[in-house]
Amino acid sequence: MARFINIKLKKLTTPIIQGGMGVGISLGNLAGSVMAEGGMGVISLAHPGYRKEDFMKNPFKANEQAVHEEVKKARELSQEKGLLAVNAMCAINRYDEYVKVALDAGVDAIISGAGLPLSLPAITKDYDVLIAPIISSAKACELLLKSWDRHYNCTADFIVIEGPEAGGHLGFKPEELFEHQAKDVYTLLEEVKPVVHHYEEKYDCIIPIFLAGGMNTKEKIDQAIRQGATGAQVATSFIPTIECDADTQFKEMFLHHPSKELALIKSPVGYYGRALVNPLTKKLEEGRVKPNFCLKCIKPCDFNTTPFCISEALIEAAKGNVIDGLVFSGATIQDLDKLRTVKEVIDELMGGQR
Ligand SMILES: Cc1cc2nc3c(=O)[nH]c(=O)nc-3n(C[C@H](O)[C@H](O)[C@H](O)COP(=O)(O)O)c2cc1C
Repeated sequence: MARFINIKLKKLTTPIIQGGMGVGISLGNLAGSVMAEGGMGVISLAHPGYRKEDFMKNPFKANEQAVHEEVKKARELSQEKGLLAVNAMCAINRYDEYVKVALDAGVDAIISGAGLPLSLPAITKDYDVLIAPIISSAKACELLLKSWDRHYNCTADFIVIEGPEAGGHLGFKPEELFEHQAKDVYTLLEEVKPVVHHYEEKYDCIIPIFLAGGMNTKEKIDQAIRQGATGAQVATSFIPTIECDADTQFKEMFLHHPSKELALIKSPVGYYGRALVNPLTKKLEEGRVKPNFCLKCIKPCDFNTTPFCISEALIEAAKGNVIDGLVFSGATIQDLDKLRTVKEVIDELMGGQR
């Protein structure tokens, strides 16, 4: 008998998840445009309200309002196609409350990484919503699924495996990243498959797996599917698109940065992150960049000792200040050559298979 797949996932007619990009890079416009192509659009829950007048005074309220507005925008653009998710980083303060805001705004899925979303099922239990972790090892996958099984008697609706070529925060140890020792995403898939299979059997369901990090061609996605994945989560390729929510200056960096050199910087979130080399990353190599404010947004961050403020750096970048801002990027930035539409990106990723 065929195993159960969450019925909501049937709306995903294109097996592409647009990766969540905070701060302000993936909001309603990008997410809704991806949905209109049958994919899963993802709004980042990291300060979506950064442009609001009262943001500095009351960031939570500004972000809450923005989530509702961005969800509405995405739904309008989607023409009722695709699925809508939010990306919630486990490391943010008031994680539970932010997830609740997204649930009340009516999203279809919560995708959560930058840590293990151990408590996610407790927050979502009264909602008809898909839940998915982002993991970077079979060990993390096993730990999370075991915990959800034991404590909540449930499992993931789908899983994102993020490999070392991804942009933003990376779930690998520094030695794995700096010495290129991290396992590639296809190897991770082979290791994660038996773990996932165990819970598929236990819950008599299918748990689709999406590979993230460097999945920027049809060939790579075909390879993932041949190995048993359902599709890919893609982020960097969607940045230089007309529909991406970032400032034009930010998008320009992905096309016309002189070297497209990338750096790995230690983030206050507790992970290393991949970003384009710019005056900020150079300053960070030399020492501390004192923050101008504190929004108390990251659990492990201390204003007095943090090497820099991740929110300030990402907000500056999203606004187009690519000198003092942090421009996160995946390793495939070298392959980006021109501004595209979301439809063009997805057509290229899928080839004729739509
Ligand atoms: C600019 C940028 C910002 C990102 N922000 C987040 C984030 O806030 N939360 C998260 O889980 N992943 C974040 N990511 C990771 C992406 O969602 C995605 O999984 C990854 O970059 C996929 O690899 P690709 O960029 O090579 O396609 C970010 C990536 C980029 C490039």
